[in-house]
Amino acid sequence: MQSLLNTVNQIFSNENFTHQPIHLYEPIDYTLRLGGKRIRPLLLLAANRMFGGSDDNVRHAAIGIEVFHNFTLLHDDLMDRSPLRRGQPTVYRKWDENTAILSGDTMFALAWQYFLAKPHPRLQEILQCFNQTAIEVCEGQQYDMDFETSDNTTIDQYMMMIRLKTAVLLAGALKIGALYPNAPDDDTNHLYQFGIHLGLAFQLQDDLLDSYGDTATFGKQTGQDIRDNKKTYLYLHALQLADPALRDELRTLFSTTPANTDAKVAQVLAIYQQLGIRQCVETAIQQQFTLARQQIDAVQVDPLKKAPLLHLMDTLLDRKK
Ligand code: IPE
Ligand code: IPE
Ligand code: MG
Ligand code: MG
Ligand code: MG
Repeated sequence: MQSLLNTVNQIFSNENFTHQPIHLYEPIDYTLRLGGKRIRPLLLLAANRMFGGSDDNVRHAAIGIEVFHNFTLLHDDLMDRSPLRRGQPTVYRKWDENTAILSGDTMFALAWQYFLAKPHPRLQEILQCFNQTAIEVCEGQQYDMDFETSDNTTIDQYMMMIRLKTAVLLAGALKIGALYPNAPDDDTNHLYQFGIHLGLAFQLQDDLLDSYGDTATFGKQTGQDIRDNKKTYLYLHALQLADPALRDELRTLFSTTPANTDAKVAQVLAIYQQLGIRQCVETAIQQQFTLARQQIDAVQVDPLKKAPLLHLMDTLLDRKK
């Protein structure tokens, strides 16, 4: 059988996203052609294969979940004022804000169209999972923005926020992948929980890479979360470790937007360095990976069938992009 990644790459290279009017569809095609890691369709296909499903049966759902993810990126980049994605200008920068909104909206509808493209006895459940996930992602995005202007966000609130904005989509991809081949409910639930912990680790890593990644490899401008006053785990943990004077300094840095944001980023990174924040986040990531591993261990299938998913998890463990 072809590797998961080859299958996913083939699925996307065979798909045409360009239609008329060109100004609506060109940004969609641009975004989807830039690739990215394709984690969500990979998870969906892996779960489907684990329970004996054929790739052909979930091809449309794999595209649907990735199109939905890319829709969230078009809007997220506008909300976060991010200039770069996958090493290229973001849609609202390359075109304009209206384009990011409308092409994004279209992608959300297109995602639905992909899911509806093929009948399935459990399609209602599949769509319910997809739509509940979509609502939760928006809830997470709202909390993320609310926290930008809040100075009393807790680590628990942050974990709740990243569960919604990021983890539920990884979990939903796995659940949908398991629903197609009619996996037992217990196993489907373990896979969902696996996705939640994997997703929490994934967003913690994203936050870490935002501060410590290499822009050329990461494909996004580093320091963006600091510029945007995002209340990430890095910041919240730093607040906990800082003495009162340093805590005040951090609070001030994360409630203002100075003209020179590069200087602000440098100042914050120096404080993180002083407090050993990087190591603390790495520990938190490891904890989530361990919890994820426990969930996959509980799935009642031949361990050989879990290998592709475990391999995928390993590739994420020390990702640089
Ligand atoms: C970016 O997702 C948004 C987050 C949830 C951090 P990915 O890191 O999966 O982005 P691509 O699709 O690989 O570019
Ligand atoms: C994004 O979180 C989550 C969603 C897009 C729903 P981020 O804002 O951290 O993602 P990046 O870093 O821009 O990819
Ligand atoms: Mg963003
Ligand atoms: Mg964001
Ligand atoms: Mg980020």
